[in-house]
Amino acid sequence: MKLILEGKAKKIFQTKKKEVLVQYFKDSATAFNNKKKRNFKNKGVINNLISSDIFTYLTKNNIKTHFIKRISSREQLIRKLKIIPIEVVIRNFSAGSLVNRLGIKRGKKLKEPLVEFYFKCDALNDPIINDDHIMLLNIANKKDIAKIKAIGLKVNKLLLKYFNNINIVLVDYKMEFGFLKKNIVLGDEISPDSCRLWDKKTKISFDKDIFRENKGNLLKSYLEVLKRLKIEVENV
Ligand code: TMP
Repeated sequence: MKLILEGKAKKIFQTKKKEVLVQYFKDSATAFNNKKKRNFKNKGVINNLISSDIFTYLTKNNIKTHFIKRISSREQLIRKLKIIPIEVVIRNFSAGSLVNRLGIKRGKKLKEPLVEFYFKCDALNDPIINDDHIMLLNIANKKDIAKIKAIGLKVNKLLLKYFNNINIVLVDYKMEFGFLKKNIVLGDEISPDSCRLWDKKTKISFDKDIFRENKGNLLKSYLEVLKRLKIEVENV
């Protein structure tokens, strides 16, 4: 298979079919725009399992995604999308850059889920942008932005339920979307790398903040999420 793209945590390969790709999960973790890097043995396997389970759940609940199926421990078959270069972050509780930017207290439940957009551009450090900036940059039109928000909020509702079932609070998370013909479709991954997940009782993190902030054992925490989801793991 031909490698067509390599990111910080994933590789994308072209299959024989033009419209189908393979998404391969690596073990590398990065933070702060690649300034901090480390490998965690089998992180890619765990994230592939968790993200596959989430995308299967979302598909069952009528969310259109790029996910076709998991084909190996580190690989998924996905539909080729025309990626929209924005990171869509939804926050249910205050944490991370929201706390730093606005000076509010960490861990507060927000009145409403907050939708934020970041322009995917490493050279600019993924700056936060609004609807008007997105239109100015010709990334998407007003209608598409509204659709992205609506799908994102629907996904948020479903994911809050999904994690609440295993006594985890979905504090915030990041999504990426793309076009499949004229349709806006959820892409990328949803895993502990791209979410803030706190234990409901203890508020301990089960996500990449463990690596960002040097707290705890990242693999053990990711495995705990798998265990609570009752996902079988071989050789991890
Ligand atoms: P933030 O508080 O650092 O802005 O992050 C918000 C959420 O988005 C958090 O769950 C982590 C996720 N995220 C990514 O997946 N990739 C990124 O590059 C960044 C900055 C955040």
